[in-house]
Amino acid sequence: MGMDWYNMIAMKLGGYSKNWESVKEGISGEDIFEEQLKELLKKYPIALDTGCGHGNFTLKMAHFAENIIGFDFSIEMIKKANQLLEESQITNVQFYHLHAKNLPFQDEHFDIIYNRRGPLSIFREIRVLKNGGIIFGIHIGALDEIKNELKTNGFHSIEINEYNVNEYFSTEEDLARFFTRIPGNIDYLDSKNQPQLKNLVEAYQTNKGLMVPEKRFIWKAFKK
Ligand SMILES: C[S@@+](CC[C@H](N)C(=O)[O-])C[C@H]1O[C@@H](n2cnc3c(N)ncnc32)[C@H](O)[C@@H]1O
Repeated sequence: MGMDWYNMIAMKLGGYSKNWESVKEGISGEDIFEEQLKELLKKYPIALDTGCGHGNFTLKMAHFAENIIGFDFSIEMIKKANQLLEESQITNVQFYHLHAKNLPFQDEHFDIIYNRRGPLSIFREIRVLKNGGIIFGIHIGALDEIKNELKTNGFHSIEINEYNVNEYFSTEEDLARFFTRIPGNIDYLDSKNQPQLKNLVEAYQTNKGLMVPEKRFIWKAFKK
């Protein structure tokens, strides 16, 4: 998805945070990723956050790391991230407006590169990860691309796990907020898009309410 779309989301919604009410059945892959990352940061304390968005997750992880650099190609996301950083007491995080394909960091600077639904073009700059360092990600799809990048870039001990839960929304507006945030989607909250929202409601209506399945892949590998 192009940077204009992410700039628009940052300006319209103030970043990439969840802005809908929902309940998940079971443990979400997103929560598992967060818990595993906290543990990894203790052992791999110099971290790169790939496509950090408006930085709220980076700042949450800062408490577990020595230093985290977050970057994003959306200038509006980085403006929000720097605003959140200024408002916090956190001193071990820096945010930069950068494209994943062209990073200004030295070879082997980072112990860990993590990627929470961010760009896979980070593999073009994998030189910034230390030998013996770890790459750790969570994505919704693109599994073949991830496997291929890991193999062709010489990673070893590759682990990929799939997590599935159901997410329940109590109102149509919450469902609209959720789908509006998916990269490339239309604004389902806009009254002119009511027919499309009606189609969504019909598609996801179950006898237990409005339900959307959540599938996540958590992947991890080591650089030689
Ligand atoms: C789905 S959002 C995830 C944001 C954040 N990681 C989070 O978990 O909240 C993807 C982010 O990656 C950024 N992004 C996409 N392609 C990029 C690229 N080539 N270089 C840098 N950032 C990119 C987008 O601007 C967006 O903020």
